Amino acid sequence: MGKDVIVACDFASAEQTFAFLDKFTGRKPFVKIGMELFYAEGPAIVKQIKARGHKIFLDLKLHDIPNTVKKAMSVLSNLDVDITNLHAAGTTAMMQGALEGLTRADGSRPLLIAVTQLTSTDQEAMERDILIREPIDQVVMHYAKTAKNAGLDGIVCSPLEAGKVHDTCGKDFLTITPGVRFADGDVGDQKRVMTPAQAKLIGSDYIVVGRPITAAADPVAAYERCVAEFVD
Ligand code: C5P
Repeated sequence: MGKDVIVACDFASAEQTFAFLDKFTGRKPFVKIGMELFYAEGPAIVKQIKARGHKIFLDLKLHDIPNTVKKAMSVLSNLDVDITNLHAAGTTAMMQGALEGLTRADGSRPLLIAVTQLTSTDQEAMERDILIREPIDQVVMHYAKTAKNAGLDGIVCSPLEAGKVHDTCGKDFLTITPGVRFADGDVGDQKRVMTPAQAKLIGSDYIVVGRPITAAADPVAAYERCVAEFVD
């Protein structure tokens, strides 16, 4: 898989999701299914979107003891998604358990990506609530290295961090980057943003784009604009 635009389908129901996806009569976007939609509709929504010909990033951010995550990943692997994820904070043992669980009898598996520190966590909250006192960018880079050493395929990070992650973990270690906005678009609640073209220049492998596409007057045109800036 190469560079691609992943559309965050942050909808609360299958009905809303299909009303959105029905607009795409040409190229089928790579779709991110998050907790809201998955918990509302269950595994059936994954199968239905897959059956329509979309690639899927199942964004459930698992974090539990290694045995539980291994078994959960084995169930998710049967859904035949293309990418899934977990929290690097679950430690190396949990990440290795996840990889074991994801790997099918024939050796194939979805790509496995780690979440490092959530972008909603800042230095102050990290020090106060989880007693991590190192600078947050060093913490993110340490989690990236730990994920790579555990055998994972990449991390979710800000497009601003993608270059440094590649310098530290190698160019084949994937960076999946949300926080993307058009130069002339609304930033909304995202703080540190980049355009699709800038994310391409800095070396993101996948951009995750939600509202600039889902809330656009013409979602298909917005998606094609992202592809034109980031992929083509
Ligand atoms: O609508 P928007 O483009 O901001 O959506 C970005 C998507 O990426 C959302 O699904 C959001 O939950 C997700 N995300 C993020 N920042 C992170 C991790 C995930 O915005 N650090």
